[in-house]
Amino acid sequence: MTNTNTFNKKLNKIIFHFVIYGLSLIALIYLYFFFNSIVPFFIPITSITYNSSLPASTPLTKEKEKPYEKPCDYTNGRWVHDMRGPLYNGTTCSYIKNQRNCEVNGRPDTNYLYWRWKPNECNIPNFEPNTFLKLIKNKNIVFVGDSLANNQFESLVCILSTISIPQRIFKEDTLSTYYFASHDANVSIYWSPFLVKGDQRTKGGTPYNKIYLDKVNEKWTKHIDQMDLIVLSFGHWMDVPSIYYENHSVIGCFRCREFKFKYTDVGFYVATRKALKITLNKIIESKFIKGNGIDVIVRTYSPIHFKGDWDKGGTCSKTEPYKLEEKKLKGKDTEIRSLEMEELENVKAKAKESGFNLEVLDVTKLTLLRPNGHAGAYMNPFPFVKGIPKKVQNDCVHWCLPGIVDTWNEIFLEMMKRGK
Ligand SMILES: *[C@@H]1O[C@H](CO)[C@@H](O)[C@H](O)[C@H]1NC(C)=O
Ligand SMILES: *[C@@H]1O[C@H](CO)[C@@H](O)[C@H](O)[C@H]1NC(C)=O
Ligand SMILES: *[C@@H]1O[C@H](CO)[C@@H](O)[C@H](O)[C@H]1NC(C)=O
Ligand SMILES: *[C@@H]1O[C@H](CO)[C@@H](O)[C@H](O)[C@H]1NC(C)=O
Repeated sequence: MTNTNTFNKKLNKIIFHFVIYGLSLIALIYLYFFFNSIVPFFIPITSITYNSSLPASTPLTKEKEKPYEKPCDYTNGRWVHDMRGPLYNGTTCSYIKNQRNCEVNGRPDTNYLYWRWKPNECNIPNFEPNTFLKLIKNKNIVFVGDSLANNQFESLVCILSTISIPQRIFKEDTLSTYYFASHDANVSIYWSPFLVKGDQRTKGGTPYNKIYLDKVNEKWTKHIDQMDLIVLSFGHWMDVPSIYYENHSVIGCFRCREFKFKYTDVGFYVATRKALKITLNKIIESKFIKGNGIDVIVRTYSPIHFKGDWDKGGTCSKTEPYKLEEKKLKGKDTEIRSLEMEELENVKAKAKESGFNLEVLDVTKLTLLRPNGHAGAYMNPFPFVKGIPKKVQNDCVHWCLPGIVDTWNEIFLEMMKRGK
């Protein structure tokens, strides 16, 4: 085929040039990925158009272009050991909550920092903070959700602050807001663990949540017209005893027998689904859209890894990731992830009509495979300094920073590049 011949000729030319310029190593890596139809991981950060990011002599036939156009499936892949390591650490970044600052809290093993998520279909390039900041220039990026949302928020702020120091801004209703003056971009988080209106259960107060499934939490929705991108993440606060309301009346509850209520236990999946549904609809109806990128991202459920009960000394002390065969997605992780995907799918058509761009940041599976990334006992400083205490509180819900949540943000950036 002439095509192949031309291709080979041009290929030879490329190889020749690379050798000439002493770039044979880069060329080899490049060719490896090219032949595997995988997005090269060193596409120049500023250009996402393919023809300007590849050498001018590279043939770009229709077949060759295809794999680049198809979005990569980030869900399926494996963790591979990688000595690259994180862009920041617990001393260089000052935005990490003490309970997530594992290294500074004395966590002795560092192996958990040296893993890279390798999707089957592509490679995730190094996070380029500069690219991310360019993509959010003049924008207001908002996380809405729970402490896992905050985990991701802190990781993002740490990564971005390696090239641009943000200013902490006190804004009405946000938990935190950082302003990156270099790019006039704001990154905020709103605390809203049910997304909808609700009161959390408290120690010593009401021992169950009150959740209003017909009203989205106004604390964040009242600012919606100033938002450019909303990242929703929730789930963990739904899975505790709760009473559900609609139109001022109780429509059911979850684990409410523990309080001798006679309401029907409808389970928390129903409520989680309803909360997400009404939230997505509210966002679409608000028409806050500015039409220049992704508008809403739903970050899927983040699995927990307690061995034993969380309140009875349960731990998560594994220091290696699970192998693919070792751990399958099932039970609660599957249920919550699926309902999130389904609800997003259900509104996609309606969203499209209004010009919305909704995406899912599907981290459930890759996160499930990382029991070694939790804060564990190192949620507290030097838990074993006086020997091994009888009972150590472990956090097998949240993640050490730096750590696995940085990977969520790497995928977030890849989605942003594509979603433009
Ligand atoms: C390549 O870039 C030029 C201008 O930069 C543009 O006109 C052309 O459509 C691009 N081709 C492809 C295949 O993207
Ligand atoms: C963090 O990085 C800085 C600068 O690279 C280094 O001096 C410091 O030792 C690191 N801290 C930890 C806890 O690794
Ligand atoms: C970000 O917040 C600052 C401070 O409130 C404000 O001056 C700026 O206009 C905001 N920028 C965007 C893009 O939201
Ligand atoms: C709540 O009220 C709305 C209209 O006011 C109605 O459409 C809806 O069915 C009601 N829901 C329940 C659970 O009663």
